[in-house]
Amino acid sequence: MVILKLPEEIERARASNQIVAEVLSKLRDKVKPGVTTRELDQFAEELAQKRGARPAFKGYRGYPYSLCTSVNEEVVHGMPSARVLKEGDIIGLDFGVFYKGFFGDSAITLPVGKIGPGASKLIEVTEQSLYAGIEQAKEGNRLGDISGCVQHVVEAPGFSVVRDFVGHGIGRNLHEEPQIPNYGKRGRGIELKSGMILAIEPMVNQGDYKVKILPDGWTVVTEDGRLSAHFEHSVAITDNGPDILSELN
Ligand code: MF3
Ligand code: CO
Repeated sequence: MVILKLPEEIERARASNQIVAEVLSKLRDKVKPGVTTRELDQFAEELAQKRGARPAFKGYRGYPYSLCTSVNEEVVHGMPSARVLKEGDIIGLDFGVFYKGFFGDSAITLPVGKIGPGASKLIEVTEQSLYAGIEQAKEGNRLGDISGCVQHVVEAPGFSVVRDFVGHGIGRNLHEEPQIPNYGKRGRGIELKSGMILAIEPMVNQGDYKVKILPDGWTVVTEDGRLSAHFEHSVAITDNGPDILSELN
């Protein structure tokens, strides 16, 4: 069942997502050669707590950290560690909080120092595909309009869409219905309604879409070892169209 939110509930979800947005925005300045992914995790956790929020991922199905840090061929759910970022890496940062009854969830992929043109194009297209999906998040459209548009933007330049992980509804729970695949046919699927909050999160591979999970039980990597990027926003569908709750105000 898809849970529709009242306007005042959307405002509370916005407050939660704004904390996530502030954390991600401050992490942008910290991502540079020499920093460890653990330092990024600690910064995110401390800032969220300072804002009175609880990091949403820590303890979720046993996940041990506050932040997901996915480097290069890591797709999502990369775990913070003593790993030192180096020039030319790319890193996906996925963060969520629980604040006053509502979850916020957002992700970005950043370059570490100067990166190659292929990596740069991958990041650019992945973010574009997210915004193409968001544009479709309006009353009267169907879920497949989001999925199909994301897929089109990703595949036109020759990249591929990860199948094994999807976006999701969000609200009083981190994961609610519907599941939001990043591939599919326009015009298909459930009708989108004002009051839905959707976490749209394309995961895009440079090569093949196939992924596998490392023996740590969490880290998702590309099967072919090529790069992957991830962006995510939590978006409310309103009578005035999509409202990106996790975009920094
Ligand atoms: N943005 C991801 C999601 O919504 C992050 C979950 S990481 C986990 O599923 F550790 F919490 F699973
Ligand atoms: Co999510």
